[in-house]
Amino acid sequence: MKDDNKYVEIFNLVKAYPNPYGDPIRVVDGFELNIRKGEIISIIGHSGCGKSTVLTMVAGLNEISHGSIAVDSREISGPGPDRAVVFQSPCLLPWMTAFNNVMLGVKKVYPHGTEQQRREICEYYLSAVGLGNSMDKFPGEMSGGMQQRVGIARAIALKPKMLLLDEPFGRLDSLTRMELQDVVLEILDREKVTTMVITHDVDEAIYMSDRVCMMTSGPNSKVGKLLSLPFGRPRKRAEVLEHPAYYELRGSLVQFLEDESHDSPADEVKESEEAVA
Ligand SMILES: Nc1ncnc2c1ncn2[C@@H]1O[C@H](COP(=O)(O)OP(=O)(O)OP(=O)(O)O)[C@@H](O)[C@H]1O
Ligand SMILES: [Mg+2]
Repeated sequence: MKDDNKYVEIFNLVKAYPNPYGDPIRVVDGFELNIRKGEIISIIGHSGCGKSTVLTMVAGLNEISHGSIAVDSREISGPGPDRAVVFQSPCLLPWMTAFNNVMLGVKKVYPHGTEQQRREICEYYLSAVGLGNSMDKFPGEMSGGMQQRVGIARAIALKPKMLLLDEPFGRLDSLTRMELQDVVLEILDREKVTTMVITHDVDEAIYMSDRVCMMTSGPNSKVGKLLSLPFGRPRKRAEVLEHPAYYELRGSLVQFLEDESHDSPADEVKESEEAVA
């Protein structure tokens, strides 16, 4: 029987990359996580700990060294339209309009629909991200924030089982960032897509997700701590900020990251160098 609490099951996940001498180094080692159907989980951790490595393995874009990942009870073995990815840069085709960039994926996912149905899907999602009046613009005519909106529309229009966001707002100014957080949350509330979002921003992790997964520093990184957030959905920014537990939750995230930075291998090297000196 299907268990909605284990809609996504990541079991004993390992990724080993070769070092310059060709020896395998386990960047991620024993990462385990179950994600509920419709849950938004954020992944936070120091730069280089392996967040993107985990996400690209879930996307099927990066080979798994050991362990397994199952989505909706099916083990993944490569990329597929059931898992849509949005990276920091939207990677739009520059010679196509916003509309046609979205249509490209929609044609693949709805091959049996009519042209009219496919048009309506593209228009619906481009309007949902606030681009109702800019569908005919080319990427070169759009701001970074607008391009990222197209990337988000393109991903969600695929009606994926899972949405994978790798620092989707990382390159945007803080106002655009807040705006797009709300755009994404609004769509996710409507569509109930199970989502993994990587972020460096503690406040973004708290505002956007139902749970925060804190990764230990690499190599051999894994889940260090999971934090469930008490805020309901739809999210209201003011309610989150004024919640009595907000500062304590924020504090425990910051503390985890501080503790992990003291344990980082770079620090150990520095300390041993100091000892020698
Ligand atoms: N293709 C690769 N070959 C070898 N090493 C790699 C490869 N890709 C990533 N790595 C290494 O694996 C580690 C984890 O990388 P990853 O990109 O997953 O980290 P991250 O947590 O996403 O970092 P950031 O927050 O900076 O994006 C890093 O030490 C990186 O140098
Ligand atoms: Mg990354």
